[in-house]
Amino acid sequence: MCGIVGYIGHKKACPILIEGLKRLEYRGYDSAGIALLEHSRIEVTRAVGRISNLADKLPEKGSTANLGIAHTRWATHGTPCERNAHPHLDQAGRIALVHNGIIENYRTLKTFLERQGITFASDTDTEVLAQLVGHCYRGNLEQAVRDALHDVQGTYGIAVISADEPDRLVAARKGSPLIIGVGDGEYIVASDAAAIVEHTTQVVYLADGEMAVLTRDGLRTTTLDAVPVTKDVQAIEFSLEEIELGGHEHFMAKEIFEQPLSLANTLRGRLDVREGQIVLGGLAEHARTLARAKRIIFTAQGTAWHAGLVGEYLFEDVAKLPAETEYASEFRYRNPLIDDGTVIIAISQSGETADTLAAVREAKLKGALALGVVNVVGSTIARETDAGIYLHCGPEIGVASTKAFSSQVAVLAMMAIQLGRRRFLSQEAAERLIDALARIPDQVGEVLQQSDRIRSVVETLVERENWLFLGRGYNYPIAMEGALKLKEISYIHAEGMPAAEMKHGPIALINQGMPVVFIAPRGQQYDKVLGNIEEVRSRGGRVIAVATRGDNEITHLAEHVFHIPDVPEPLQPLLTVIPLQLMAYHAAVLRNCNVDKPRNLAKSVTVE
Ligand code: M6R
Repeated sequence: MCGIVGYIGHKKACPILIEGLKRLEYRGYDSAGIALLEHSRIEVTRAVGRISNLADKLPEKGSTANLGIAHTRWATHGTPCERNAHPHLDQAGRIALVHNGIIENYRTLKTFLERQGITFASDTDTEVLAQLVGHCYRGNLEQAVRDALHDVQGTYGIAVISADEPDRLVAARKGSPLIIGVGDGEYIVASDAAAIVEHTTQVVYLADGEMAVLTRDGLRTTTLDAVPVTKDVQAIEFSLEEIELGGHEHFMAKEIFEQPLSLANTLRGRLDVREGQIVLGGLAEHARTLARAKRIIFTAQGTAWHAGLVGEYLFEDVAKLPAETEYASEFRYRNPLIDDGTVIIAISQSGETADTLAAVREAKLKGALALGVVNVVGSTIARETDAGIYLHCGPEIGVASTKAFSSQVAVLAMMAIQLGRRRFLSQEAAERLIDALARIPDQVGEVLQQSDRIRSVVETLVERENWLFLGRGYNYPIAMEGALKLKEISYIHAEGMPAAEMKHGPIALINQGMPVVFIAPRGQQYDKVLGNIEEVRSRGGRVIAVATRGDNEITHLAEHVFHIPDVPEPLQPLLTVIPLQLMAYHAAVLRNCNVDKPRNLAKSVTVE
């Protein structure tokens, strides 16, 4: 979604801001802009499309400014065009502002400002905020921002500069993340650590309802009501290499192929194979409440929601605890019934998904224990949940979530085993699962070796515009995830569902040559899946199967089979998802799609 970078220091701001915007490109955007303080004037440059378009429009000589703000915009109010791109200025052109989030009462504020004689240059809610700060300005930028924000309803992460105060940058947040990189006599404010890590690993996380005033001499943080707040400087966990391609053509490929490592990192220190135990430090304080819970609700969106579905099977099967999975966007508004015995588990790679965060707040309001399964350290969901487990799978840059999904499932499997032991799971059964989980990273590596063959198969199918993905039990969520991966990056229409559901309607779609992917490893419902395969074959569908290595029966039924090692059923999703991720990746490359930045999509959906 939108990205913010701001710089104040002694270096040239322009290259730092442009480089920062490039680091945020992965989040998805449609236009970009930069405001630099040049000789007591604010110079704004905006462009539609890539950051390179913006860079091309900047003066060739370059700018000497050492204060500036920049933005990548993902249109919400107003079409993607130059005049709607940020930064926005106040009427006098003396104040510039960039904004992530949505100003909900912008119409009321706009009418008020228009009555004061202010004319607007764009269709955005953000310009309303810039004009409002200008309207409140009486020679003190910090106070003007504070006054303006008091009148604002909605969500924001903002960075603001004034031509009349060349020594300061003001930032504030409510509902949209902002991080401040702390350098030597310089500060970089950004919506995402990726824009900061090249310059410093020391950061301050601004919390909701906080403001920061950055000068070359220091950083001051307060609440919106001017109450001083002392913040700790923390170290960012990841390095620059982790957010670079490292020889891969796309981040998605890099992230698919690094899963043996990312999964090992997720499991590290948490599997005690010798003692047959799971150690989850993040949950220690709440272990009793969790073990006594009557009901678990997983809440998430997109791929994380699919991980939640796997969690539902894991918790009911392994931990024998009733569980359900809800779209956070529905949960937050339907006045859910929550009692003392309910524990909510929010799953999110970014930790910033607006609906998931709102679901956490709703559950907490009603007294539930809220846990987080989150990747981004220090993100809002990570901080607002009562406790949780970090994925530790490293930064995920590709818009299509891959390694975060496998790490989410691994974390949920560990939680289910640990919880199971406190309930009805025998030590022997737990040990079997822990042993098997410890072998998963290497087995993922084995499955990845089929990548070239998967590409050859996809080459023969890639022109087909409609695909089905079918699975049962633990592999029904994987069918959903396979379909989502394919549609979001290759724009092929795909549906994923329980294999039995096919007969209740979707079977009408199956015609000669339609690709139907079955996730069919050996397990309790294997024979039933074979029956479904026959039904598809007899209607001319082309069957591709993900099956257990050594299964010769299925090779007679399916046109192509990709294999996974034999693992206990609860852990199958960690392996069956891999060929589907590769299928989606190769399909997108073969169709010349923009793999890491699919159209209309953002990496992190911070508005509802
Ligand atoms: O950051 P989150 O895990 O909360 O994001 C949730 C979804 O927006 C995300 O999984 C989305 O569906 C991805 N594009 C899937 O690849």
